Amino acid sequence: WLIGLGLLGAAYLLGSIPTGFLIAKAVKGIDIREHGSGSTGATNVLRVVGREAGLAVLCVDLLKGATAVLLVRWLAQTDAIAGPTDRLPWLTMLVGLLVLVGHSRSIWLGFTGGKSAATGLGVILALAWPVGLGAAVVFATVLVVSRMVSLSSILAAVSISLLMLLTHQPLAYLLLAIAGSLYVILRHRSNIERLLAGTEPKLGQTKPS
Ligand code: G3P
Repeated sequence: WLIGLGLLGAAYLLGSIPTGFLIAKAVKGIDIREHGSGSTGATNVLRVVGREAGLAVLCVDLLKGATAVLLVRWLAQTDAIAGPTDRLPWLTMLVGLLVLVGHSRSIWLGFTGGKSAATGLGVILALAWPVGLGAAVVFATVLVVSRMVSLSSILAAVSISLLMLLTHQPLAYLLLAIAGSLYVILRHRSNIERLLAGTEPKLGQTKPS
């Protein structure tokens, strides 16, 4: 179980890597948290720094989530994680949650960060790729129609739990989906307020109004 505990710490630290903060600092010399929505996520980096920077943050943040899950799987294959294999989904569940928390409460940024949507999608893609793919389709469809990334992230998050149910995934994965989605939706509180007030910026608008 020591390796399990180490893995949880590693997942948190992996999620904590402040991709958006570092890229915005390197490209524009700014603290991304003082601009746009204040999030260190890909959407805000796209809004404030530019397309290439936003895309780079999206890719690395997706990879952070996927890597955490793949690490558990790999360690399980090498038998480094002792114990019955039916414990594995539960360990994966905790690792998935901790990488999300690390991303939005980074130890390097005074426990601030992003909203964990991209990292969450990375977790789900590695966990059950058809579910991740389905959520990505929901995201893209809502984005095309609404042009609002936050609304797309929120609805994609909701769809993940339904897709987990529909594809009969293990209980631990379903619980990860429910807890992770709730967490991501809660991180979008300010967006939800703006959505309700009709002031949430669309793609291409530079500042949240
Ligand atoms: O994933 C974050 C996105 O859904 C919203 O980002 O910067 O518009 O609050 P932002």
